[in-house]
Amino acid sequence: MTSRHDPRLKAFASDNYAGVHPEILQAIAAANGGHQTAYGEDVYTEAMAEVFKRHFGEQAQAWPVFNGTAANVVSLRSMTAHWEAVICAESAHIHTDEGGAPEVAGGIKLLTVPTPDGKLTPELIDRQAWGFGDVHRAQPRVVSISNTTELGTLYTADEIAAICSHAHDLGLLVHLDGSRLTNAAAALDVPLRALTTDVGVDVLSFGGTKIGLLYGEAVVVLNPAAASGVDYIRKTFMQLSSKMRFVSAQFEALLSGDLWLRNARQANAMGRRLAGAVSGIPGVTLTRPVEANAVFAILPRDVTERLAKRFRFYTWNEATGEVRWMCAFDTTESDVDAFAAALADEMHP
Ligand SMILES: Cc1ncc(COP(=O)(O)O)c(C=O)c1O
Repeated sequence: MTSRHDPRLKAFASDNYAGVHPEILQAIAAANGGHQTAYGEDVYTEAMAEVFKRHFGEQAQAWPVFNGTAANVVSLRSMTAHWEAVICAESAHIHTDEGGAPEVAGGIKLLTVPTPDGKLTPELIDRQAWGFGDVHRAQPRVVSISNTTELGTLYTADEIAAICSHAHDLGLLVHLDGSRLTNAAAALDVPLRALTTDVGVDVLSFGGTKIGLLYGEAVVVLNPAAASGVDYIRKTFMQLSSKMRFVSAQFEALLSGDLWLRNARQANAMGRRLAGAVSGIPGVTLTRPVEANAVFAILPRDVTERLAKRFRFYTWNEATGEVRWMCAFDTTESDVDAFAAALADEMHP
């Protein structure tokens, strides 16, 4: 069968627009053939569990799920009782981009905090960490942060350590939405555990799809005392894959060598290159620090409209006209240069 699309065309809309990394496809092919026990009792899932332990510590336990929304909902449900709530940034993906799944499907109350840059701090957490013991208030139980954030910014290990220590002092647990944890670790040049296990994160949603998997994310419990019933919750929330070997084989391929790092470095480098190329174009203003693979900018609306016909990307904020350009593991220098040239062209036709 031939492609129905032009595989040379790249978009700057989302790292999810990218295809599957060839090494991941090879791993899927290698896992094919013959029969393996379904529902996770297979040799690939066993190997995947070990790879996650190598990265996150012996106590870490990983449960593959189908997508990132599910990783978040299953994680948060396993950390909270029905009367408990999750504190997060107002811009958090769980609040803005999951169709209300944590609330509607998970039954989890979110307590949101406005932030200037998508990042919580101990002080910002305190805006919602109150009312303990008051039956009229959903009881704060978890602080959820994302690294990288939805605004392309990064938390350093020290910043996460400060959040975890403050949360734990208040009797709260910490969940990290690591849909782009690989990008954050690559940008800071630290191992994955330096931003999670080593600084006190309790439960992690680990992202695979954006960094080259066909599909698959994982709930990773780093502190066994922080979550319960993940096996059952994953099934109840329709996330137990019968042919799990194919999800697990992808994670093994991503994490057993340096594929995750190579892919994340490439996406981040292209983010930097894009920022450099467009920041010199008069009339284009970068709106946020470019710390990994996302670039946010404001440009004239008519330019956005014309440019978006040539390359797909999202308007992030309809009110201000701010746009988001996202680079992926397969974005190349020539993709970036072609995009920047098209932007310059549309700015000054
Ligand atoms: C920060 C963050 N969390 C989670 C997700 C996962 O979403 P999905 O359910 O689309 O895989 C995304 C995807 O865009 C994201 O950006």
